[in-house]
Parts: sequence; structure tokens; C-alpha cells
Amino acid sequence: MSKFMEWVDARFPATKMWEDHLSKYYAPKNFNFYYFFGSLALLVLVNQLLTGIWLTMSYEPSAEGAFASVEYIMRDVEYGWILRYLHSTGASAFFIVVYMHMFRGLLYGSYQKPRELVWVFGMLIYLALMAEAFMGYLLPWGQMSYWGAQVIISLFGAIPVIGADLTQWIRGDYLISGITLNRFFALHVVAVPIVLLALVVLHILALHEVGSNNPDGVDIKKHKDENGIPLDGIPFHPYYTVKDIVGVIVFLFVFCFIVFFFPEMGGYFLEKPNFEPANGLKTPDHIAPVWYFTPFYAILRAVPDKLMGVIAMGGAIAVLFVLPWLDRSPVRSMRYKGWISKVWLLIFCISFVILGVLGVLSPTPERTLLSRICTILYFAYFILMPFYTRMEKTKPVPERVTG
Ligand code: HEM
Repeated sequence: MSKFMEWVDARFPATKMWEDHLSKYYAPKNFNFYYFFGSLALLVLVNQLLTGIWLTMSYEPSAEGAFASVEYIMRDVEYGWILRYLHSTGASAFFIVVYMHMFRGLLYGSYQKPRELVWVFGMLIYLALMAEAFMGYLLPWGQMSYWGAQVIISLFGAIPVIGADLTQWIRGDYLISGITLNRFFALHVVAVPIVLLALVVLHILALHEVGSNNPDGVDIKKHKDENGIPLDGIPFHPYYTVKDIVGVIVFLFVFCFIVFFFPEMGGYFLEKPNFEPANGLKTPDHIAPVWYFTPFYAILRAVPDKLMGVIAMGGAIAVLFVLPWLDRSPVRSMRYKGWISKVWLLIFCISFVILGVLGVLSPTPERTLLSRICTILYFAYFILMPFYTRMEKTKPVPERVTG
């Protein structure tokens, strides 16, 4: 074996890569619960790729055949039902895991210098993930697939001058048709997954270049032993590979429970109108995107003007990109930030959840008012950040991690 590895290493940096990224990558020893979600995101990504490839083998991307081919997968293809439920539950699981992963970033200031690019690559992943989920949702060609796509594509029509042409260009037709379905299929199964994979590689390379942050937000490279190894670091492999297996097992328990017993999750993971074939002549009573998009959908609806609503919705995502430059705090972790930062993070999270709930419900005057308040709070968290992070009193950060 070692002779074989010598032969390989003379031609390809296999051992070097293994050491740089696993056996000699020193990660802080105080990773906690929140640090499970990076490896879980990788797990869900692999699940989506594998189940997606097998679904593609039996799926038909045409307006005439798509809906029936999904029913065929569910009823006739051997194990087709489990492939589909793993994929549809995986889509929601992906967003749950990624939202927890992003929350960890907010909690411990993981986006701060020198990890700005780790965060920006993460945000590009998030954008690609949203595009991937949106296009995948059209494929079963159910009522919600059709009308959800109708609502979102028509948003581009709000853009002045080019809006009308742009929507037609996206659809490839005067209305959403088999042509739209076919191009969404190509993008969903080939183009976006390639982009996602490439971005995940860049994300991890950028992280390993500077090293992982930790719940204390202290720099473990400041204190090294005589061999140059951080005193508060432990090799990723075997310590964190084994620890991550614990997270994987717990996650799989919950995930499989949903796949086997609640794959529709009461209409939140698979929406009820989507069990009816798409009908361009019959609008469903109530159109709402899948839960992971609803906070942004609520922001869109909170603004009375369509164009301004689209700008607010885009801005809600865009502002996350510049987060590393909005936080002026001298400390990273919430553990050492002042109470104003803590309160604002809480307000932000509560607003995001309320917006998510409001985005599912049909609008009433009271709900619209609440969604406006939450939209303002959502943006206030970011806009006020340069001020409150600079003026608040922070606690002293320890020299070494606290365990
Ligand atoms: C497919 C989606 C993603 C995958 C597979 C992924 C993977 C990973 C992995 C394996 C790590 C190292 C382990 C860990 O710290 O948990 C990591 C760290 C990180 N990720 Fe992601 N990630 C994804 C999406 C995102 C998104 C959407 C963001 C934020 C916009 C993000 C921001 C970060 C940050 C800031 C770190 C460093 C955390 C620290 O050192 O404290 N990631 N990611």
C-alpha cells in the first residue's frame, strides 16, 4: 500500500491533500453543536445529487409527461417512492441545515476578518441553492409548481424597460410551457449543481486557508507549540470526523423519521395543490412558496409597490453579502459582544421567523402591518450594525479558548 501511495504521490498530491485538509488540519478544540451543520450540509448535498441522478433516470421533462412520470416514479419504479421522498425532504433539510449554519456565523462572527471570503462564497452557495430549489420545484408540473413559477418569473416584469422582454426570455415562451420546463430541467440537473459543487470547494478552500473560527472567536494561531501546532487545535481527522458522525446519526434519525412517516410534513415540504397537475386556466386559491422562501416572499408583499417590493426582496438577500463590512465590533463571538448586539440578533431572528410564518398565510390588513414592522426590523439589524457594534461595551476576550 505504501509503495502504491509513493507512486501516486509522485504524480498527484494525494497524501498532501489528505494532510492539509484532514489529518494535519488543526481545528479549534471547542467546536460545539452549531459546528455540526457544515458537515451535515455536505451530507445533504450528496443525498440530493445521488437521489437526483436516480430520479432523472425515470423522470420525463415535458409538459405532457412530467406529472405522470412523477406518479410513475412513486408507484411503479422500484424504490422510486423513497428516492423521491429522500429528494423532496432533502430540499427542506438542506435549508434547515444551511439556516442553522448561517446562524452560527452570525452568533460567532465567523464572517469577520479574515473569513470574509468564506462568508461571501457561502452566500453565493445560498443564492445557487435558492435557484436550484426554485427550478426543481417546477419539475413535478403540479399546480403549485406552475403558479409559483408564474408569480416569481412575473416579478422580473416589474423591472423598467426590459421587464417584459426579460420574462419572455426566461420562459422561452409567451407563457410558462414545456419549453420553460425543459430549460429549468437542464439548469436544475446539470448547470446549477456544477456551480454549487464548485462553490462548496471554494468555500472550504477559503476556510482552510485561514482556519476555522470557534465559539469564543479567538485566534488559535496566536499560541503554538514548538512544532508550530496551535495549542488549542486538534487534527480534524480523527477527532472531528468521528465527532461529525454523531451529528450525522442524530440527523439521519430525524430525517428518516420524516421521510418514512411525514414526507409531506402537513403540506410544508410537499404542498397540497401540487398533487394536482398544472392547469394554466385555474389559479389555486392561495399561492405560497415553500417555507424556506416565505420570509423573502413576506418582504415582497409587505411593500405596496411591485418594483419596490422586488428591490426590498433582493436587498434582503444582498445585504447579507456585505455583513462582514457592517460588523465593526472588535470581538467576534456573541459571548463577548455587548447586550445591544445580542438584542438585535434576537430581534432579527424573531422577525425572520415571523416573516416566514406570514409568507405562508394569506394577507389581511393586520398581517400586512406586522410584515411591514418585521421588514423594517430585518433591515434595521443590518443598517444599524456599524453603529451599535462600534459604540457598545464589549467583554474582554480570553487569550485561549474556554472549552
Ligand atoms: C451547500 C452548502 C454549504 C456547505 C456544504 C458548507 C460547508 C461548510 C463546511 C464543511 C464548513 C466547515 C465546518 C463548519 O464550520 O461547520 C463550513 C464553514 C463555514 N461556512 Fe459553510 N457551507 C455551506 C453553506 C454556507 C452558507 C450559505 C454560508 C453563509 C452565507 C456559510 C458560511 C460559512 C462560514 C462563515 C464558515 C466558517 C465558520 C467558522 O469557522 O466558524 N456556509 N461550511
